[in-house]
Parts: sequence; C-alpha cells; structure tokens
Amino acid sequence: MSQQVKAVVARAKGAPVEVVTINVPDPGPGEAVVKVLSCGVCHTDLHYREGGINDEFPFLLGHEASGIVEAVGPDVTGVAPGDFVVLNWRAVCGECRACKRGDLHYCFNTHNATQRMTLAEGEDAGTELSPALGIGAFAEKTLVAAGQCTKVDANARPAAVGLLGCGVMAGIGAAINTGQVGRGKSIAVIGCGGVGVAAIAGAALAGASPIIAVDIDAKKLAKAREMGATHTVDSSGSSGVDPVEEIKRICAEVYEGADGADVVVEAVGRPETWKQAFYARDLAGTVVLVGVPTPDMKVPEIPLIDVFGRGGALKSSWYGDCLPSRDFPMLVDLYQQGRLDLDAFVTEEIGIGDIEAAFDKMHHGDVLRSVVIL
Ligand code: APR
Ligand code: ZN
Ligand code: ZN
Repeated sequence: MSQQVKAVVARAKGAPVEVVTINVPDPGPGEAVVKVLSCGVCHTDLHYREGGINDEFPFLLGHEASGIVEAVGPDVTGVAPGDFVVLNWRAVCGECRACKRGDLHYCFNTHNATQRMTLAEGEDAGTELSPALGIGAFAEKTLVAAGQCTKVDANARPAAVGLLGCGVMAGIGAAINTGQVGRGKSIAVIGCGGVGVAAIAGAALAGASPIIAVDIDAKKLAKAREMGATHTVDSSGSSGVDPVEEIKRICAEVYEGADGADVVVEAVGRPETWKQAFYARDLAGTVVLVGVPTPDMKVPEIPLIDVFGRGGALKSSWYGDCLPSRDFPMLVDLYQQGRLDLDAFVTEEIGIGDIEAAFDKMHHGDVLRSVVIL
C-alpha cells in the first residue's frame, strides 16, 4: 500500500522546484511514516537543486523537520504513532567502532529508509525520488528510518524545534559538543549566519564569556548581539579593524594574559576565515570548523612552527557532533523553559509553494530561516 501526498521536488539540475504529488509507501521493518508539520529551508536544499551535491535527480527536498509519527513498520520500538518528533539526517548503528568510540558522525553503518518514494504524476511518474539528506520533508508525509525520529515535548512549536534537525543543531553543537565551551571560557564566532548565531546561542547557554561575534555584515552583528554575543567585531575591510587582534584584545581585557579565545568557531567555510580562527585562538585553544568548504579550497599556508607553538586542537564539527536522542529533547526543554530562543531563528512561516521565493531571500541575507508549514 502507498498513499499520495503533495511534496516539493527538484526534477532537473538548476530548474525551479515544483509542488507535485508523490507516492509514500507504508513503512517497512525499522521504518516510520511521518506526517510533517514544519520544515526549514536550508542552503543544502538549494545545493541539491543546483546539482551541487550529486546528480541523483529527482530530489525530494527538505530536511529540517518536525512532525507526528503516523505509522511504524515491524520491529520498531523507539517511537510510536502519535509521537511528536524532530527528524535527523541518519540513524547511527550504535555498534560499529566509530559509534563505540563516541564518534557518531563517523558511523560506518548509518542508515535511512530504503529509497522507494516515487513521483505520482508527470511523464516520469513512477521514478524513484532521492530524499535530501535521507529525509525529504517538504512533503505532507515522508518515509524515514525510525531511528531518524526523536520524540520531543509535544507542546513545543513545530516550526521552532524542527530547526534542531540541521543548522541550529550544527551551530549549538559546534560550540558545546565540539568546542566544549563553558563557564570561564571565551569564544569567538567568525561568520554570524544561521549556523554562527546558533553557535553564539549555544555558547550563551553554556555560560561562556566573553562571546565575540565576527562578521563583515553589520546586520548580522546586531542579530548576534540579540542571541547572546557580548562583543561584536566588524571584520569588513572598511572597518580597518584586524579581527584577530581585536579578539585577542577583548579576551585579554577579561582574562589577564590571554592571547586569544579558548574556542574559535569558524562558521563561514573559507580558508581566510579559518586562518583568522587559527591565530585568534589562545595558546592550547580549539578551532572548530563548522562552515563547509568547497572541494577546491586549500588549508592556508601556515608555518608549521605556529601549529607546534600554539598547540591545542584543530577540529571540524559535523552536525554539531550531536546525539539526537540526547540533544534534541534537552534543547527543546531549554526552549520550553525560555532559556534558548529558537523562535528567533524563524524569520517567517511560509507555504509549500513558496520555496523558490525563500531561496531568493537566502541570498539577500535578511532571513535566518524560512520555515514551511505543512
Ligand atoms: N568574514 C566574516 N564573516 C563572513 C565572511 C568573512 N570573510 N564572509 C562571509 N561572512 C559571513 C556572512 O556575512 C554571513 O553572515 O558569514 C555568514 C554566513 O552565513 P550564511 O550564508 O547564512 O550561512 P549559514 O547558514 O550560517 O552556514 C554557514 O556552514 O552549513 C555551512 O554551508 C554552510 O558554509 C556554510 C556555513
Ligand atoms: Zn540543512
Ligand atoms: Zn555505527
């Protein structure tokens, strides 16, 4: 059996997305069908539609979602019909060497639902869809692995908590899980888009101070301050400020003798900003690269003696090193208590037909997240 629902599909490279009818099959063993309530529009969706991820068109887009479990397949014990859940990209196995070591995002055996949702209309009806990041949630209903569903407080606002499924979790986790910031530690965040601002919110939650926001765009810095930044640094050429020196100055003002921040999160994904992060961290400090570089980018030339001399750790953060079953309910709880402002990330709620317009707005930089309500 399968059912037909409305969904947003990218049929061909670069072509505008379309709202079409798709077939969603019943869940098989270890799977769940989720009635989607909200799904954020992320840069990655645009990358899929531009063919930047792979060419397995047609794609079923959308991956920052919340919803209600409608049905589960055989052998599913973790979630049940009626549960309010936030979706994650991949279910980890919990048993491979990477999982046992605690490096969940390097799991050898992550899995999604078996790909078998199909187009239900057009000349290509019957064609199998590739769900973006193994989710595909710009759809009234979607088929996922049950392990991709994490039950959270059912009273929480779907549009807000669904964002934990991708960018917001990546940012908060980069600060807290990967960077291990906390009380008595300083942090600088370079790049204050959705991911960077989430890192700032995470650092604020963890009690870090100072929290230094760095961006080339003054609007972004204003938002960063609302989300918990204690200091802002305009690093556009026109400001005349060297962001590395400025971070060092601010940290030394708070902690005598500091030569930079304990943790620097790079949330742009470029060699020059990574180099700033490298030199802006204190001796023995940590650099966390959460911005995603393109394949042609190279590690900037840095004297090896500086790597030796500064010590510390050069890390990257995949999905904020999150453990969805631990982090999603905790962050939803903090949101419900008013201690984490997830609403601030929801710039607008839109309909399923408004995704191309949301892609346009992403380029103008005024939107943290447009969230589709289904
Ligand atoms: N120095 C400082 N900030 C910069 C610089 C720079 N040289 N160049 C760009 N920025 C800022 C932009 O002004 C913007 O505020 O970086 C921010 C990037 O934000 P977004 O484009 O909104 O991206 P975001 O969704 O936050 O993702 C950041 O992480 O997930 C990845 O692919 C994503 O690489 C991207 C990064
Ligand atoms: Zn995303
Ligand atoms: Zn594993």
